[in-house]
Amino acid sequence: MKALVCVVLAAGEGRRMRSGVPKVLHRLNGVPMLHYIVGSARALNPEGLIVVAGKDNRRQLEESLGPGGVRFVTQEAPLGTAHALQSARKALRGFRGDVLVLNGDTPLITTGTLKRFITRHRRAGNSLSILSFTPPDPAGYGRVLRDGSGRPLMIVEEPDATVEQRGIGEVNSGVYLIRHDALPLLKEVRRNRRKKEYYLTDLLGIALRRGLGCGVYQLGEEREFMGVNTKEELLQAQRVLRERTVKHWLDRDVGFMDESAVFIHPEAVIGEGTFIYPNVCIEGKTRIGRWCVVYPNVRIAESVIGDRVVIKDSSVIESAEIGDGSAIGPFARLRPGTTVMEGASIGNFVEVKASTIGRGTKAQHHSYIGDAEVGGGVNIGAGTITCNYDGLKKHKTVIEEGVFIGSDTQLVAPVRIGKGAYVAAGTTVTEDVPPGALAIGRAPGRVIKGWAKKRRAKS
Ligand code: UD1
Ligand code: MG
Repeated sequence: MKALVCVVLAAGEGRRMRSGVPKVLHRLNGVPMLHYIVGSARALNPEGLIVVAGKDNRRQLEESLGPGGVRFVTQEAPLGTAHALQSARKALRGFRGDVLVLNGDTPLITTGTLKRFITRHRRAGNSLSILSFTPPDPAGYGRVLRDGSGRPLMIVEEPDATVEQRGIGEVNSGVYLIRHDALPLLKEVRRNRRKKEYYLTDLLGIALRRGLGCGVYQLGEEREFMGVNTKEELLQAQRVLRERTVKHWLDRDVGFMDESAVFIHPEAVIGEGTFIYPNVCIEGKTRIGRWCVVYPNVRIAESVIGDRVVIKDSSVIESAEIGDGSAIGPFARLRPGTTVMEGASIGNFVEVKASTIGRGTKAQHHSYIGDAEVGGGVNIGAGTITCNYDGLKKHKTVIEEGVFIGSDTQLVAPVRIGKGAYVAAGTTVTEDVPPGALAIGRAPGRVIKGWAKKRRAKS
């Protein structure tokens, strides 16, 4: 957007969080709070995007946001929100236009609301505009004071407010638009006597006294302005975000048995017709296809799931790819680097790591498949183990198309089982098996007739 720079204030210590983690890095649906407001600001396409960080949290904030056009400035000491913005003045030198100031702890504000706010501010030709809202409980927020005809007068922070002022329901959201020519007024903000901080909110009174055009507007939905200062507020924000995400997917024909018991990462994608049972976590940039069923207690992270896949109860899927029409679980564990191809079936207590499972292949019970390449149409019997680790290195197992692996088999890698071969139950395979062969390595058993009777007679 032309002549717009966004500044996100994120240097505060966040003491009310009572945590060693910087407040704005606390996670909401798995994503640090700061990412949300930075994302909403970035979507405005501003000329510049500045984050004000503290001396102690700058490195963590930079690492968390990563590269991506954000400029960082340091507020040398946490002396309040006006002081924080003042720290960005150098970076704003020569800029002509509007500075959109956002608090780093208001993650739910949407780009749409910010756009409407910018339009209002510009249409009014204001030097300073502030977004306000009326929360169910105004406690903790700065109250907006207006005169008898509704014109804004000033903002009073809660500790400085009289009992009467505390009764005001309209509060400051922490979103401001300041035209470049009003920025020098920041120098006139005096230190608050009680908290010894420079309050950005004082700018309203100062600008009005100068006769500058100011406006305080109520736009958007109340709950999108909620500030997160405590762990309890973090949970409340999480609930709002969850409802927003669930609504988004409901509108796209995804079904839920209990929408209050699912976690869906904001960047996850779910196809139409998919149904999700309770206690399901869909994390990271997971993509789930259409017409899938995800049963209870499943965690899927950073994975790609095809169409018509059934993921049965209590399965864990991490950084894996699952082809159309496959069946996973119950109690399956797919670890990073696993690819399960179309129509395959990974059953109970089967762990797969860094392996490819071919089309229509079945591994239904109690197995470990690691560093393996398994072809299509293979049957892996119960209790099959790829012995991929020799104590020093990992080795590969190749099982070609159409192989039958009997139950309770160990495949000591590196090893290859040729196309269509059979491995008899109970075999430990230590050398390659040619295509079409049978590998059998059972110790011969004995049956001793009448033994039990003799044994019992002894006791
Ligand atoms: C602030 C507003 C209040 C408003 C509320 C909305 C002030 C004085 N008060 O209160 O009117 O209703 O937000 O949520 O602005 N920060 C810095 N440096 C500092 C102090 C804070 O960068 O020295 C940052 C924080 O990291 C935070 C933001 O500014 O992201 C707001 O600070 P916070 O302490 O949360 O202010 P509130 O008490 O919530
Ligand atoms: Mg706050």
